Amino acid sequence: MTQPLLDPFDRAIRYLRVSVTDRCDFRCVYCMSENMQFLPKKDLLTLEELDRLCSTFIGLGVEKLRITGGEPLVRRDIMTFFRSMTRHLDSGALKELTVTTNGSQLAKYAQDLADAGVKRINVSLDTLDEKKFADITRWGRLPQVLKGIDAAQAAGLRVKLNCVALKGFNEDELFDIQSWCAERDIDLTFIEVMPMGDIGNEDRLGQYWSLRDLRGELEKNFTVTDLAERSGGPARYVRLEETGQKIGFITPLSHNFCESCNRVRITCTGEIYTCLGQEGHSDLRAPLRASDDDAHLEAAIRRAIGLKPKGHDFDYSRQSVDGRVSRHMSHTGG
Ligand code: GTP
Ligand code: 5AD
Ligand code: SF4
Repeated sequence: MTQPLLDPFDRAIRYLRVSVTDRCDFRCVYCMSENMQFLPKKDLLTLEELDRLCSTFIGLGVEKLRITGGEPLVRRDIMTFFRSMTRHLDSGALKELTVTTNGSQLAKYAQDLADAGVKRINVSLDTLDEKKFADITRWGRLPQVLKGIDAAQAAGLRVKLNCVALKGFNEDELFDIQSWCAERDIDLTFIEVMPMGDIGNEDRLGQYWSLRDLRGELEKNFTVTDLAERSGGPARYVRLEETGQKIGFITPLSHNFCESCNRVRITCTGEIYTCLGQEGHSDLRAPLRASDDDAHLEAAIRRAIGLKPKGHDFDYSRQSVDGRVSRHMSHTGG
């Protein structure tokens, strides 16, 4: 038996998040700058390299694989990659193959994803207002995303909305979003905005809406019960007793979840970030390209996991300049 991947704090790494492109057809203001410079194609891992890397991780005990970006579905031929991962689902080594998407290409790909063995997907959507959607994504079209969500449900995919909680932006839509999801049997998770990427003129600190406060708002209309279950991701869940709806909270700032961290991230250029909130990373592209010997690659992976820090270090109280990570979410895949 191969030894599972254990980090220095004895946390087993079972969840791999892979960014397959830094490109995106939107430019969400908290994620990318408007004139984002994208990487040259030659720097990206090829689909074959991605396959080899993911397969090696699966061989080392990874059971959950999430494909992210940028927007993963804008990468050319990405369905070839999804289809090639189906073999790991079939063998039972991989328990879940999934994707986080902005939904723009879902109408086109939902059925292909389902055919490749994807069962549920996360769609990033922060507002149900067309004008506000166009503003936050800088030019995205909401109806296109809604059409994508319909296509996903029609293909039998379970859909979860990821909604970044933003003060002064979607506070007034809390109950609209919640009831919209309840009506459509869509899961919902709120995320606290993290101090990453360009802060520039936008004051991320000013946009920070603690999920403790958001929960307080929900409690004005509903009985909110904590649930013990976890999804293998960072969310904690509650149930709204009146609707039976499950709502997730991802609270990197107000309630750190690092002690149970089970995941690492690969960027589209083959760097491994062992923590979203820390700059430390190692290169896996060089060992991938240096040799066909998987033992060499495995050793590089184990070395990188051996450097995983105890937790992230976001801290708005130390001022946004100190507490921020100077990396765009699209690079590491959120
Ligand atoms: P589920 O399998 O549905 O639980 O997915 P997930 O929450 O693991 O994945 P998703 O892509 O929906 O992640 C939602 C967001 O949570 C990410 O984009 C990040 O913003 C945040 N997040 C996920 N993992 C971490 C983590 O390890 N640290 C921090 N700080 N944030 C994380
Ligand atoms: N803080 C919190 N969430 C973010 N995302 C992107 N940038 C940030 C940020 N600065 C979220 C997106 C998407 C997921 C991949 O990451 O909304 O749901
Ligand atoms: Fe694209 Fe997602 Fe970043 Fe928005 S948050 S720009 S949809 S990668």
